[in-house]
Amino acid sequence: MEQIAYVNGSFVPLADAKVSILDRGFLFADGIYEVAAVLDGKLIDNASHLARLERSVGEISLALPESLPRIQEIQQELVRRNSLVNGMVYLEVTRGADTGRDFAFPTGVKPTLVMFTSVKDIVNAPSARTGIGVITVPDLRWARRDIKSVALLAQVLAKQAAAAAGAGEAWMIEDGKVTEGGSSSCFILTQDDVIVTRQNGSAILPGCTRKAVVALAEERQLRVEERAFSVEEALAAKEAFITSATVFVQAVVSIDGKPVADGKPGPMTSRLREIYVDFARATAV
Ligand code: PDD
Repeated sequence: MEQIAYVNGSFVPLADAKVSILDRGFLFADGIYEVAAVLDGKLIDNASHLARLERSVGEISLALPESLPRIQEIQQELVRRNSLVNGMVYLEVTRGADTGRDFAFPTGVKPTLVMFTSVKDIVNAPSARTGIGVITVPDLRWARRDIKSVALLAQVLAKQAAAAAGAGEAWMIEDGKVTEGGSSSCFILTQDDVIVTRQNGSAILPGCTRKAVVALAEERQLRVEERAFSVEEALAAKEAFITSATVFVQAVVSIDGKPVADGKPGPMTSRLREIYVDFARATAV
């Protein structure tokens, strides 16, 4: 079946989905993106993704070309037109295409809004059973990682290094502490059963899955601490895991080739994964 994308008001075959070479997303990475998971044809935790989209565009003074309710309608329409059952919807908004390449904001230019879907069975992914290994890399990114910017070169290099090493993710390190994964939030479970994840702030993206998992854990009286942790602490932990829209909750079984605990996904990670999937199904739109 031909894949359908959305470009500035139109649903078009993916091969015809094009933007100008003067688009500021292309020239300056002057744009914001979001990735929402799809389960059984429905969007997961989308209100949270749209709230973060609104915040990100606000932080770079970019006006959305459509309202948030309309954006959700377009996401849903795209899922329908692609007969997407399980996967994700990618959306990107940029400051549009001016007549040349000027760094300062153009006037009277309409932002670009594009979306496409991809297929992934997140719930039954093989890595959900086996867990993944991660490598560590220096965090080379800019100082506003709380903005979900399309400037992802540091993450591209980090995740390529992980792929080349046969690992599933790269954990980025700054000042001796883990900031986050190339495209995920990082967690550990300490020996005294505290779930630890780095506090939000400009050093990390405020993950939507992270937020939901923290709230779901707290509702169940599990102990959660939001603070930075080191690789040494992660290697001494009972469990480690990552969260994101594209993996939900995913066990980390080794770091730089050294096993975390017995090198297998732990019970807390499996429990939080089940709790999250139940929440996802119950709140899907
Ligand atoms: N990335 N941290 C970073 C740097 C991310 O890029 C992501 C998500 C997350 C997790 O956020 P969330 O739980 O809202 O997906 C944390 C998306 C999935 C991506 O770039 O593909």
